[in-house]
Amino acid sequence: MSKIKSICCIGAGYVGGPTMSVIAAKCPDIKVTIVDLNVARIAAWNDENLENLPVYEPGLDKIVAEARGRNLFFSTEVEKAIDEAEMIFISVNTPTKTYGLGKGKAADLKYIELCARQIAAVSKSDKIVVEKSTLPVRTAEAIRSILDNTGNGVKFQILSNPEFLAEGTAVEDLLAPDRVLIGGDTDAAGQEAIQALVDVYANWIPKDRILTTNVWSSELSKLTANAFLAQRVSSINALSELCEKTGADVNEVARAIGMDSRIGPKFLKSSVGFGGSCFQKDILNLVYIAKSYGLNEVADYWEQVIIMNDHQKRRFASNIVKTLYNTVSGKKIAFLGWAFKKDTNDTRESAAIYVADDLLFEQANIAVYDPKVEEHQVYGDLNYLGSRNKEENANLVTVFNDPYEAVKDSHAIAVLTEWDEFKNYDWQRIYDNMKKPAFVFDGRGIMDGGKLQEIGFVFQAIGK
Ligand code: UDX
Ligand code: ADP
Repeated sequence: MSKIKSICCIGAGYVGGPTMSVIAAKCPDIKVTIVDLNVARIAAWNDENLENLPVYEPGLDKIVAEARGRNLFFSTEVEKAIDEAEMIFISVNTPTKTYGLGKGKAADLKYIELCARQIAAVSKSDKIVVEKSTLPVRTAEAIRSILDNTGNGVKFQILSNPEFLAEGTAVEDLLAPDRVLIGGDTDAAGQEAIQALVDVYANWIPKDRILTTNVWSSELSKLTANAFLAQRVSSINALSELCEKTGADVNEVARAIGMDSRIGPKFLKSSVGFGGSCFQKDILNLVYIAKSYGLNEVADYWEQVIIMNDHQKRRFASNIVKTLYNTVSGKKIAFLGWAFKKDTNDTRESAAIYVADDLLFEQANIAVYDPKVEEHQVYGDLNYLGSRNKEENANLVTVFNDPYEAVKDSHAIAVLTEWDEFKNYDWQRIYDNMKKPAFVFDGRGIMDGGKLQEIGFVFQAIGK
């Protein structure tokens, strides 16, 4: 197969946007068109002012500025872009199902299916279709079946190319990934398609970092990687509770075990709980798949990672209530951070949402400040959760653009995201403007507790 000249990506979200921008920047000879049904989102990607890009990622603005209009295009003309492309990435969202069979566990593939049907209907020439969304194992088979049975007789090759980028470091991860994984058919046509995608990545990634496997291994590797990472967080979080009871310090334990080269230092930061669009969804998927094969012990084993994570979030909230003399009713609790981690404006499955929910059940008033999350997103998250109606959320929760206003007159501050700027605030000024005793609950282990205690704060951190 000759070199790919034209790529289309369906879905201009956290995965499709940054991934395609980097491909375009690194492969100036390939025309990359990202399409999305969401008109506002595409308009934001095309905004002259790079601060208005819909996805916040350090370094992304520069990459977009370099390639946009040259060989990178954002458009709502889905069919035209599909028709013109030799290679189509499917990068649409696959949320956990909220209805029917597999509710709360299985991935909802309706957007993927729609894409496959659209590709089948529009394509007039052979295409390579690449699944880029996080998908349950054997999705490629479903895509293949739709393409082969509803298409216009053109040939499709299906590849699995899972994304391993972490939000907040997406550009770095895309520029210098640990590895790129490409799964495809083992026959000659499959191998040719794999090679076409290898050639795209080889423009900037060393060949020895590009792994090729069969489709199922590739799909399962993605779920497994996230399950292992999440498991480390739940493991250290489980120990954090034991540390609090015994007088051990979870940071010291993490450091001690992380220096064992067999364990390694990463993903051992105990926290209020992991969030993000992948960990929970992927594990739930793994659990669902295991159950569907009757592997109940396997399913239970992985489900425990989620159970521990839910416990950690609930425990953080109930500790705030207990410490504030068993009542937070009518008290102002200030949240520093709402995103699921620093350096992103993504709030999907953020621990902050669940901590807020628990405190709202206790009738607290919550003041939120996050450097990158907008007001409508905070309300959107709480309204989506559905524990109370819009009006109640609007009455009990206020979102601030200024951290000092957010914490003013509060009884307690909860640090929910590890944004660097929180450490550099004028904490004396914050203390002076709070109710006394002034509490800080550090859910991310970023604050200098000794310094805060010197000022007069009552300070608590997870695992100490
Ligand atoms: C993850 C995977 O890392 C990435 O490879 C995959 O493709 C998508 O899912 P992401 O969800 O963006 O990426 O963020 P990640 O850095 O993995 O963090 C996930 C959650 O775990 C965050 O809420 C983070 O705060 C939390 N976490 C991470 C901890 O609580 N402690 C840690 O030590 C590490
Ligand atoms: P992810 O983190 O997986 O990138 P996002 O929700 O950020 O998820 O992005 C997925 C994008 O896919 C959304 O912007 C959504 O509008 C888009 N999308 C979903 N289905 C289709 C479709 N059939 N055609 C075009 N875009 C779609």
